[in-house]
Amino acid sequence: MPTKTPPRAKGKTSRSPLTRTVNAFPAAWTWFVDELIPTYVKKKYSPRESWKDKPFTTDDARFFFKGVNELSELFTEERPRQLPDYFAHPKFRSSYLLYFLPLQAAKFLSIFRLHSEAVRAALRHGQKDGTLHLVDLGAGPGTASLAFLLWLLDERLEPGKELPSIELHWFDTNGAILQDGAALVEGLADQFPRLRGKVKGHTHVGPWWKAPAQFPQETSLIFFGNVLNEAVLPQKEGEASQAWSRILERAHGGGVLVLEPALRHSAQLMSQLRDELIEVQAIEPSAQSIWGPCLHAGRCPLATGRDWCHFSVPASIPGRWFASFSKGLGSERHWVKFSYLWLASKDAPAPRPAAHLRRVVSDPIQKDRNADVVLTCEPEHPGRVRVPADSHVHRGDLIPA
Ligand SMILES: C[S@@+](CC[C@H](N)C(=O)[O-])C[C@H]1O[C@@H](n2cnc3c(N)ncnc32)[C@H](O)[C@@H]1O
Repeated sequence: MPTKTPPRAKGKTSRSPLTRTVNAFPAAWTWFVDELIPTYVKKKYSPRESWKDKPFTTDDARFFFKGVNELSELFTEERPRQLPDYFAHPKFRSSYLLYFLPLQAAKFLSIFRLHSEAVRAALRHGQKDGTLHLVDLGAGPGTASLAFLLWLLDERLEPGKELPSIELHWFDTNGAILQDGAALVEGLADQFPRLRGKVKGHTHVGPWWKAPAQFPQETSLIFFGNVLNEAVLPQKEGEASQAWSRILERAHGGGVLVLEPALRHSAQLMSQLRDELIEVQAIEPSAQSIWGPCLHAGRCPLATGRDWCHFSVPASIPGRWFASFSKGLGSERHWVKFSYLWLASKDAPAPRPAAHLRRVVSDPIQKDRNADVVLTCEPEHPGRVRVPADSHVHRGDLIPA
């Protein structure tokens, strides 16, 4: 693959929000992670009755950290290909709520920030319809939906407009974690007048591929968060593709957001899914079918091989207990890392990307005194572009081709 230097005059590197530090969390975030979640977890999961109604303390953090640590080990790249049903165990439900829910919610919020127009498309659809139908597949405790509700609390509404009714349609193979999430939604909606009386939940226990038969014909936004990496697929040949076609038929407004860990296996599964959906025309082969991160609808250059599509957004996640668990894990986080794919709906296509821009999909892979070489996203194979050594181009930035 030839290496080329972009002419400096043609355009500037655009420091994508993918590489800008984000400290702006919703105003309700700290209450949510430091009050609502720990209070709920302590009440529901403390082993002793006498502890249940007392405030969450450092002793509780120590007690619950054991589960956080074990679950963190289970979630690493070396995880078993087929994960056990960890949510069957109260220890893992409580640790997910305390640590992984805030962590994953922070990732969803980062992506909402990157694609706030997609969030607005979901909201507009809900306003037009009278009800915003939010579907969450492999919802767990409804992490994505909770992040969305926190986002809506801060969303500036057009004059004279208010939030529509919100219906949550959650699907998961584990019913207990759905119930935990439903209790958190209730606590959140009760706390804030903007949401009070507006949010209704429907929980369904079953595999995600059976969900389309049970959710509304028109949805405002669909989430699929951290499910592909669990490597659970239907036995019946073609059932997953059929389910995806039906999911996409029902996707209006903000479309479908898929989030996965920044791990090679799950990121490549997601890229392969993207390519397949375009190939069978479940989504139109146009860049406007995708909010991000792709700027084209050609084949993903990172769907197989050594590299994979993922991003690291600098972020400092607020929360006293989150900080304490992170410290315990030895991973005080200044970044959130993820892979994602946000598919647009036909009624609200993404804007046409500028033809001269390319997404950088690696950190510098080669450096010399005058130039760095980075990989860029091109159909089929990554491009290799030389950028001036002092330009600090990072994964996620947009640079002129
Ligand atoms: C890592 S958790 C993610 C939860 C949530 N979406 C999030 O991002 O925090 C994965 C979830 O997928 C669920 N799950 C696994 N296989 C599934 C399947 N075949 N159908 C539906 N849910 C499934 C698990 O029970 C679990 O709740």
